[in-house]
Amino acid sequence: MTITIQELTKTHYEDLIPLVTNRCQHLLNLSPQLPCGFCTRENIASQVEKILEHGQGFIAYENQKPIAYIISYWIKSLFYDRPGTYTPEWAHNLTIHNKKTSFDLLEAHYNKMIEGGYIQHAITIAEVDAETTKLYFDHGYSGRCMDGHRVVKEMIDVDFAPYSFDLAIKEDKGALVEMLEDHHTYMNSPKALLGFEFEDETSLIDKWFMEENVNLYSLKDGPNVIGMMKVTLGGSGGCDMASDSLTIGIQTTQIHKSYQGFGLGAKMINFISNYAYENQYKTLTVDWESHNRLANAFWPKHFKPTLRSVVRYIG
Ligand SMILES: CC(C)(COP(=O)(O)OP(=O)(O)OC[C@H]1O[C@@H](n2cnc3c(N)ncnc32)[C@H](O)[C@@H]1OP(=O)(O)O)[C@@H](O)C(=O)NCCC(=O)NCCS
Repeated sequence: MTITIQELTKTHYEDLIPLVTNRCQHLLNLSPQLPCGFCTRENIASQVEKILEHGQGFIAYENQKPIAYIISYWIKSLFYDRPGTYTPEWAHNLTIHNKKTSFDLLEAHYNKMIEGGYIQHAITIAEVDAETTKLYFDHGYSGRCMDGHRVVKEMIDVDFAPYSFDLAIKEDKGALVEMLEDHHTYMNSPKALLGFEFEDETSLIDKWFMEENVNLYSLKDGPNVIGMMKVTLGGSGGCDMASDSLTIGIQTTQIHKSYQGFGLGAKMINFISNYAYENQYKTLTVDWESHNRLANAFWPKHFKPTLRSVVRYIG
């Protein structure tokens, strides 16, 4: 058995398409909650073209037959404002079942990264694939983000009384900006340690009010805003395969500290699930940092963790 490794170029396009198609199908089999809109033939073809244009990667052949691959996007500022590369869930098929080839491909990939001064690699794997998770853990990776999914099946009873939860109105803007400031402060506090540079809160709230596919909600106690939730219709803030046009992505969610732990977060999710049901969306998705203590205690109670993104720092 002769295995050779080649650096990917556009000439490998035809060899790559069946591997990526199989990988997508494998992920859908492993996590049936994932929406399947990403995995159309046209979309796979355009994603492969894009990553070959803007990324770097390697492919392994066993006696001329393509068997394994890894591709990453170059990202000037990944985490903590440092350069890195990111491999989406569909852009590799390295597994423990092919350990030596997997490690050889990773090594070739690291050499290429180091040449360019890119010092961190993030990669997304299937959460249920414990053996592959171990492969990355053994190889120096640690947890970063999770994507979770739930299928929308039926209407659910939701009663917010004595509070209310509705689409935000312009008069809520000042309170929402403050809530978003609290959210960003929390996200960079020791409980979450996200280490992100967030955009200015006022501009973000203005932008979300304007975006057609964004619904911004206010949770209120009387006239006072005590919580917020942003949702994206037909999208998400998460991984490529996390959403399609029939998905609603739940994003920026914050409840005022003194109102946390009373089940209001759970009611907000059920409310969005009912909106999804009434508007023919099939799936809800959310992504969170696995090291965000409150988020990691909350979302897995309502969503099936599907995709896990891990990161390795080099040097
Ligand atoms: C995440 C958040 C929106 C949840 O809202 P909430 O109204 O408190 O949620 P609920 O009361 O419905 O549920 C909280 C659950 O987490 C549990 N929980 C709360 N704090 C916890 C802690 N420190 N450790 C472990 N579990 C905890 C509660 O016991 C509860 O579980 P239960 O439903 O089995 O009783 C809220 O905690 C929050 O605003 N966090 C800060 C911002 C944030 O992390 N947002 C998400 C970003 S991805």
